[in-house]
Amino acid sequence: LFSLLAVMTVFLAACGEEHLSTLKPSGAVGKEQLNLLLLTTVIMTIVVIIVSVIYLLAFVKFRRSRVGEDVMPKQVEGSHTLEVIWTVIPIILLIIISVPVLTATYKFADVAAMEEVDENGEKTALTVNVTAKLYWWEFEYPNQGIVTAQELVVPTDEKVYFNLIAADVKHSFWIPAVGGKMDTNVENINKFYLQFDKESKDLKEGVFFGKCAELCGPSHALMDFKVKALEPEAFKAWVAAMQATEGNTASAESSDLGEAMFANSCLGCHAISGTGVSGAFGPNLTTFGDRNRVAGFMAHTVEDTVEWIMNPEPNKPGNLMTGKYNVTEAEAQAIAEYLMTLSVEK
Ligand code: CUA
Repeated sequence: LFSLLAVMTVFLAACGEEHLSTLKPSGAVGKEQLNLLLLTTVIMTIVVIIVSVIYLLAFVKFRRSRVGEDVMPKQVEGSHTLEVIWTVIPIILLIIISVPVLTATYKFADVAAMEEVDENGEKTALTVNVTAKLYWWEFEYPNQGIVTAQELVVPTDEKVYFNLIAADVKHSFWIPAVGGKMDTNVENINKFYLQFDKESKDLKEGVFFGKCAELCGPSHALMDFKVKALEPEAFKAWVAAMQATEGNTASAESSDLGEAMFANSCLGCHAISGTGVSGAFGPNLTTFGDRNRVAGFMAHTVEDTVEWIMNPEPNKPGNLMTGKYNVTEAEAQAIAEYLMTLSVEK
């Protein structure tokens, strides 16, 4: 038993990573969900302890060497008192667990505020349409008219409402330190909200990490995304900067080799304008230079970007960027350097 526990400790060690821990939650939703976890764990632990103690007592008290050979202890089969006790106690425990769990579940799914409008008829709640794809994430802000990919930017101190959908197979949207998880289905939209509170900024400067939490294919484990929580003013500035990229495009005639190559080889699938381009085939690259990671999990460096452009399949098996792009290593280097200049924060 002790060896087993020791081995489990090793496996659980990685769970200590703060930004992926549900045990150190940030934001009101994550905190309430942790309280529910603790409530059920405490109740289950008490049940295990009481049952184990009764079992051990019976084991000791009625063992043969104590009561004597061939002595049958008093039989209690059919005892109404006992049956009532072991029926009523679990019912009470289930009520204690289910009332707060169901209350919270319906509360976090209450998205009526998504439809509220101000005096100008504009929607007041911040809504993000999340589309999960093999193996990346698209984030559309319908009321701001902007789209980004792989990196979700949210304001602190307000409820952020999510419409979750999948483009191909079932995925699951999960930001362990903030709350979730919630399935993204192909056919019906799941809705809930999360809160990224100001104190969340202590956690790696407001950066959280999200994961796909539903086995969806060979690169499921690499289907990560980043969440950046900005103070409300900084968030407004970010939205304005994204809107200002309207019409951004790359020219095949550019004197910049990277831009010209990008226009020739990449623009068919990837957009570099953050406005009005939802549903593009590949991830929107408007904020590529601001990202923390490349392709969701590689280092945010020119070197790893070149590696990604040249060898997408071995790095992320089953992803859809697997064609032959006819670019040399030097051209990929130029494209990577150009991509690093795409920024709304610098
Ligand atoms: Cu998408 Cu797992």
